[in-house]
Amino acid sequence: MSNAYPDHVSIVEVSPRDGLQNESATVPTAVKQALIEDLVAAGVKKLEATSFVSPKWVPQMGDNSDLMSAIAPARREDVIYSVLVPNMRGFDNAIVHHPDEVVIFGSASETFSQKNINCSIDESIERFAPVAAAAKEKGIRVRGVISCAVGCPYEGEIDPSQVAYVTKRMVEIGAEKIGIADTIGVGTPIKVKNALLAALDYIDVSKVSGHFHDTYGQALSNTLAALELGVSEFDTSVAGLGGCPYAKGATGNVATEDVVYMLHGMGISTGIDLEKLVVAGERISEFLGRRNDSNVARAIINKRQS
Ligand code: HMG
Ligand code: MG
Repeated sequence: MSNAYPDHVSIVEVSPRDGLQNESATVPTAVKQALIEDLVAAGVKKLEATSFVSPKWVPQMGDNSDLMSAIAPARREDVIYSVLVPNMRGFDNAIVHHPDEVVIFGSASETFSQKNINCSIDESIERFAPVAAAAKEKGIRVRGVISCAVGCPYEGEIDPSQVAYVTKRMVEIGAEKIGIADTIGVGTPIKVKNALLAALDYIDVSKVSGHFHDTYGQALSNTLAALELGVSEFDTSVAGLGGCPYAKGATGNVATEDVVYMLHGMGISTGIDLEKLVVAGERISEFLGRRNDSNVARAIINKRQS
């Protein structure tokens, strides 16, 4: 194995949040809870449980408080349960549930910022600053995610300088980690590398994660490109669930099963049991009545059946 790759990669499982926020059907809280418990049983150590956004904007996450209460008794100390928070209202609602990490989510595209969180990039930073400060005061981790880091459904290609700008601003207000997100999955390896390199001017690679949607089937290639730069954390979603209601045409995140299979095949550990992960993906796909969008999961299931 090349020494250029990390020995271990952290997976942040985003299916309970990114995966289910885009489903048209209402997913009962108990099903979300079961998904989270299945993921943890498969060895997932970091996950996005829900988001404390406006239920008028994203009704699918309207059970955020109920879900956090439901998972509370079985929460494990070795698992980081993160929640998305767009403003102080969200933070105040989230904090009673003791999240391990809050995720502030901005955009490298002005138009997407307006469409997704109803404010400009600079206004979003102003809203995030007190959230980051309040989280820090309580000893809670703060991660920033930058959407549309390579392409935007409204503006087209995004210049890496925009990624650099938002990274700089988020780091200034206290984001300890930065996620570079290809929200609509249009990126290709060199473009993704350029977006990542822009962020690396302001934050160490050990604090950077990749969040790649797979709309154009490029997400695994983009993951490999990010690994080559030394990125060792990726947001992924079991069964390839995912999408943002305000980014039309965006389909699922890269499937966790596919990333884990690739990493294990490269001799990189993740701590995740692939067979158990496939079970988690099968269960939620069955509930949603949709095809499992992980190639690896489908291959493993077919092999089992034959
Ligand atoms: P707004 O309408 O501008 O907010 O929305 P406002 O401050 O004017 O408040 C309007 C109403 O919403 C008020 O209620 C507030 O109390 C309420 P009213 O007085 O009318 O009854 N409100 C809230 N309620 C609950 N929780 C809150 C909250 N804030 C205000 N936190 C806002 C601004 C940011 C709230 C809205 O635009 C919003 O919720 N947006 C969220 C959109 C979203 O969740 N998108 C998906 C997640 S991002 C994503 O998927 C990308 C990612 O995966 C990375 C990638 O792939 O790129 C992370
Ligand atoms: Mg996303």
